[in-house]
Order: sequence, then structure tokens, then C-alpha cells
Amino acid sequence: MKKLLSFALAALMVLVCVFSFTSCGKKGNTLDEVKKAGELIVATSPDFPPFENLEGEDVVGIEVEILKKVCEKLGVKLTLKQMDFDSVLPGVTAGKFDCGMSGITVTESRQKNMLFTDPYFVAAQAIVVKAGSPITGKADLAGKKVSVQTGTTAEEYCSENGYTVSAFAANSDAQTALLNGNVDAWVIDNLVGIAMVETYNQGKADDEKLVILSEAMTSEPYAFAFAFGSETLVAEINKIQKAMIEDGTIAAIFAQFGEDYAAPASK
Ligand code: ARG
Repeated sequence: MKKLLSFALAALMVLVCVFSFTSCGKKGNTLDEVKKAGELIVATSPDFPPFENLEGEDVVGIEVEILKKVCEKLGVKLTLKQMDFDSVLPGVTAGKFDCGMSGITVTESRQKNMLFTDPYFVAAQAIVVKAGSPITGKADLAGKKVSVQTGTTAEEYCSENGYTVSAFAANSDAQTALLNGNVDAWVIDNLVGIAMVETYNQGKADDEKLVILSEAMTSEPYAFAFAFGSETLVAEINKIQKAMIEDGTIAAIFAQFGEDYAAPASK
């Protein structure tokens, strides 16, 4: 009886493995599959102006405009699903969404788990402090407390470099932690830091303002993320994106949001 039981158990385990293997097999959709579905389902964390943020109920921004144009060319509709940033990449790799759009930095470790389009822009991390802070550069950050958004390259960088990190699901909470004095600095992608600080500083006295330090940390090439299995889709989007860089469409989109555009050096 005992033998039979352990045999049944082993058989069950084999079945579970086979099942989970096949269901884990292909996650991403091909170009044909997306065209047939008629929509590109995109996961996004719209707390990242000017790339994606909420205006009322609408998600607006540079990346929204880029993907709208891409979808026009693919002949499909753009469907956005909103979530915190730390759910975007796991959702994409698990095949819950076709694409991740969130000012996503291409990193070697992420490339082990997912596909990226060619980068369309290169950003950096910036350090934000309160006016009058003794921190004036990266060197002053040693041993200090910093706030970051959970699951971002800022979190990875600051943890690896030995800062005391407080991570928040929402960028606005990382900003509040600095304003409340719970941390000494807030580390965030530069254009987004500039945009959020500009909004915050409006109408504030100089000594109440937030300040962005000019010293940039890291290099952050932005691209759109896809699950493995989406190779044909990514190849087609790369072609469309390249043409949009070359004919000035992407520069015009940046200009629409008041930003200068420089294309990344091509590989
Ligand atoms: N570029 C950084 C990263 O990829 C931060 C992205 C955060 N994006 C957002 N929509 N909040 O980790």
C-alpha cells in the first residue's frame, strides 16, 4: 500500500512538472498573434512624467504617443493596463501582457528574463535633495538614507552601493519620504525627477524647494519590454521605431512634451 502511494505520488509529480513545463513554455505573443488579436496589451505604471502619467483618467506621455504610432503601423489598437511599477516586468515575463511601457531601463540582468526593443532614449539617475541640504554630490551620499521606487534600477543601484534604501511602490511616496525628512535624498530617473520637482516647486519659497543635483549617476537606456516568444513582434517594432527616429517623429513627440531629444548611438 505504501509503495503504491509513493508511486502514485511520483506519477503525480511528473504530471505536475509536464503541465507546468508546457504552460511555462511560450509566454510572449508573435507578430501574427498580436495582429490577429487586433490589440497590443501594454502594462504601465503611469507615475513617470513626461513618459507616462495620469491626466484625469487618461494615461498621457511620450511613451504613450510612441506606442500609439507603433500600434497604428501594426494596425492594432493600444490597450493600457495600469499597475505599480514592480508588477510591470513580472507581468510581462509571465505573459499576462504583450508589452511593458514604463520608462524601463534595459539591464543585463533583466535581459536574462525578457526581450527588449532597441533603446529609443538614454536617461540617467538623478539625486534629489531638499534646499540647503549638505549633500551636493554623489560622494556625500555615502552612509545616507535614500528613497527609491520599488523594483527600479534606482533601488538596485542604491542597494548595491551600500546606501540605506527605503523603497516605495509609488514614486510620489518616495518623494514624500524626502519631504518628511525620513530620508536624506531621493534617487530617480533624471527627466522624471526634473518634471516632478518642477511641479512640486511651483509657488514655493526658495528654502522650501526641492533641488536636483547636477551629478548624474548611471546610464539608463529606455526600451519597451516583451516576454520571450515575442521575437517577431519585437523585430517589427524595432523597424517601426528606427524609422520613427530617422524621420524625426520621436523628436517631435519629445518636443510636444517640452523635452529635447537625442537618439541613442546606434549599435
Ligand atoms: N528606469 C527605471 C527602471 O527601469 C525606473 C522606471 C520606473 N518607471 C515607472 N513608470 N515608474 O527601473
